Amino acid sequence: MSATPIRALVAVDRLIDARLVEAVVDDPGIKIVGVVEQAAGVPAVDTAADVLLVACGAASDDAVAFITAAARERGDRPLIVVCGGSPNGFVRDVLTSGADDIILIDETVTPGPETFFAMQKALARRSGGAFDAAHGSLVCVLGPKGGIGKTVTSTNLGVALADAGHRTVVVDLDLQFGDAGLALGLQPERTIYDLATSGGALDADKVDGYLAEHGSGVRVLLAPVRPDQAQSITVEFLKELYATLTTAFDFVVVDTPPGFSPEVIATIDASSSICMIGMLDAPSLKNTKIGLETLGLMGYASDRVRVVLNRADTSVGISHADVVAILGRAPDVLIPSQRDVVRWLNAGEPIVLASKRSEPAKAFRALAELAAADRVPAETSNGRRRRLLRRG
Ligand SMILES: Nc1ncnc2c1ncn2[C@@H]1O[C@H](COP(=O)(O)OP(=O)(O)O)[C@@H](O)[C@H]1O
Ligand SMILES: [Mg+2]
Repeated sequence: MSATPIRALVAVDRLIDARLVEAVVDDPGIKIVGVVEQAAGVPAVDTAADVLLVACGAASDDAVAFITAAARERGDRPLIVVCGGSPNGFVRDVLTSGADDIILIDETVTPGPETFFAMQKALARRSGGAFDAAHGSLVCVLGPKGGIGKTVTSTNLGVALADAGHRTVVVDLDLQFGDAGLALGLQPERTIYDLATSGGALDADKVDGYLAEHGSGVRVLLAPVRPDQAQSITVEFLKELYATLTTAFDFVVVDTPPGFSPEVIATIDASSSICMIGMLDAPSLKNTKIGLETLGLMGYASDRVRVVLNRADTSVGISHADVVAILGRAPDVLIPSQRDVVRWLNAGEPIVLASKRSEPAKAFRALAELAAADRVPAETSNGRRRRLLRRG
């Protein structure tokens, strides 16, 4: 289950404490391939590093100059900055000089995992959202309100991916009213609450012990059994959880509650793609549009967002052209409204397996194929993606 570590070249300034350098790279996912002095300039000889980590004891103009030069020299390589000193004005300077991310070290952060997480994110962004082969894709299923089909979609997508042979886990992040377990007919023996309160660091083997298993092979991290347990699930825990799950699974599908809570934002941040669910009525479409705009404001690339239109029947007086006009784009997948969806949901059986030939099942499988196509490295994926879209 061990993944290839991210190879980092570290550039230090004169002010940094050696112990701080050790702390920021203290993560099994990071391998140091060289340490250089920022004062010596951008290294001329290239090393086989995946990322450049610029470690600063304090904010300084020299550091900004180094970052600017390094980002110019190797724009293709992610550049992460860690800073131990007072960051006044530094964050903006660093981010405008070409760095991918900056981590400010104080007592609230665990430096190693934080650095690893920033590196993973930057690498994912560079590869157009698809993680490298060693890391799974995290698909965040979003929807502006309750009852529009997030859980039906997450569970059926997870099952369709598992059924196609991908190692897949569904995480139920609807921490107060999660029902992914019910949708899959699973008993909540151990939940995300038990994992979050178990103490100690996470690793793939430990997390494995908290996952329920569905007959299709999909694994599920179930929501807490009581709403008050939700508060034990912190953003820090989720970051560590996602970093762990993406090393052990090809796909991590996260079902979410409505709205942009801190937990949902952390999930969006960690995701390689988003599946935005909308429904075919005017208020839902308006909310879906606002959701898409919010993602845009967060800097999320629109080509990493798939739009799923649920209950997409022609009889409600909204045409395909209306949908495109309101959303500003065509939906990627249409799921028809059918009583069978409710019937199989109530039976705790995913419709993708229970009624394979039904139209909703076909739509969920098309969504799974899109997710699999999104995982293919950027150069080869576009052709395949277009083919899939034409078919749908
Ligand atoms: N395509 C569909 N056809 C018929 N009923 C659907 C469809 N999609 C969702 N539903 C029903 O709508 C309800 C809400 O779906 P759910 O996935 O739980 O929404 P959410 O997770 O967004 O709150 C469920 O009872 C489900 O059976
Ligand atoms: Mg739900």
